[in-house]
Amino acid sequence: MEKPALKVEKRLGEEALKAVSKLGLLDRGFKVKRLDGYIAIPLVRNPTEEEFNALRRLNPLVYVEEFEPRLRPRSIREALEDMVPEDVLSSIPSSLDLVGDVAIIQYRRELEPYLKAVGEAVMKVYPRVKSVLVKTGPISGDFRVGDYTVVAGSGETETVHKEYGCLYAVDPVKVYFSPRLSYERFRVASMVKPGERVLDMFTGVGCYAILIAKKVTDCVVYAVDINPVAVKYLKRNIAMNKVQGRVIPVQGDVVKVVDEGLKGVFDRVIMDNPSRAKFFLKTACQALKPSGGVIHYYGFYPEPNPEDQALRDFRRGVLEAGRLVESAETRIVREVSPRRYHVAVDGKVC
Ligand SMILES: C[S@@+](CC[C@H](N)C(=O)[O-])C[C@H]1O[C@@H](n2cnc3c(N)ncnc32)[C@H](O)[C@@H]1O
Repeated sequence: MEKPALKVEKRLGEEALKAVSKLGLLDRGFKVKRLDGYIAIPLVRNPTEEEFNALRRLNPLVYVEEFEPRLRPRSIREALEDMVPEDVLSSIPSSLDLVGDVAIIQYRRELEPYLKAVGEAVMKVYPRVKSVLVKTGPISGDFRVGDYTVVAGSGETETVHKEYGCLYAVDPVKVYFSPRLSYERFRVASMVKPGERVLDMFTGVGCYAILIAKKVTDCVVYAVDINPVAVKYLKRNIAMNKVQGRVIPVQGDVVKVVDEGLKGVFDRVIMDNPSRAKFFLKTACQALKPSGGVIHYYGFYPEPNPEDQALRDFRRGVLEAGRLVESAETRIVREVSPRRYHVAVDGKVC
């Protein structure tokens, strides 16, 4: 098929591929063509004048060339066959997290020498991915952010993720974000009734808050986060999803935020910070209206009986805050590590 092409000397091929990819011009659906002493790189479109200037040092020629379509491997393992030893191949994760056009794979020690190859394989299987990250450290700290290393692609980590009709600008290297919780967010949003006032205590880039505001008429959601970068994205997301005035962004420690002016005003509180939520139950109870409301509590609990443990912590915290649990239901959100679970408690508190 004929496509715009960038022709450079073969010795500049690697540099040219990187530069073209960084500009978002590389057409990964077609094979690079080897010519006598040169290579022709398939482009998604003709470069603009500015882009051409950025490539000028490669002394390129832009013209139209015939390219063969690239037959995509069906899996990361298939893409790596013949490139990594058989025993390592079996330890390659079969799934990954896609946050917009950024792919995140889990670190495994045996993959260390092959991380670049794994990253490139991910880009072959998922041609729209612009950067591949390996999660090299656990989610930690107050901001709940992990450690990541870029192993392939342009290295750009800011992206826009689409979920249930909402758009979320996010940089997973700087703020917490998990595409795996999309159903849980949808489930909670589906329980909100028109006219409710909701507090999203640990909003991140605003996934619960924005989905609720888009789905439910007349409700107002206060969206709080202590991480200033998360709140920067939250504000962008409020505008992008056109929920200004219905999602109120607040940056700060939710304990102070509630204490200084949001006591007794909410029908529903979302506590999506499973590693710490139990320490914030007093604040959640203070935020509820005097007549009561619903708290969505989250925690990580091991076997045996993770749901019973979650319910026990929830009841104890609510009681210590001087309130009562009228009714409560539990749900396993997902297994986070062997025999350890992310548990949700939906509790009616009076
Ligand atoms: C697990 S993440 C929540 C993610 C978000 N709900 C979502 O759906 O993507 C927990 C968030 O709580 C925030 N956080 C931690 N301590 C806080 C506090 N004391 N007050 C407000 N936010 C806090 C972190 O910055 C982080 O963004």
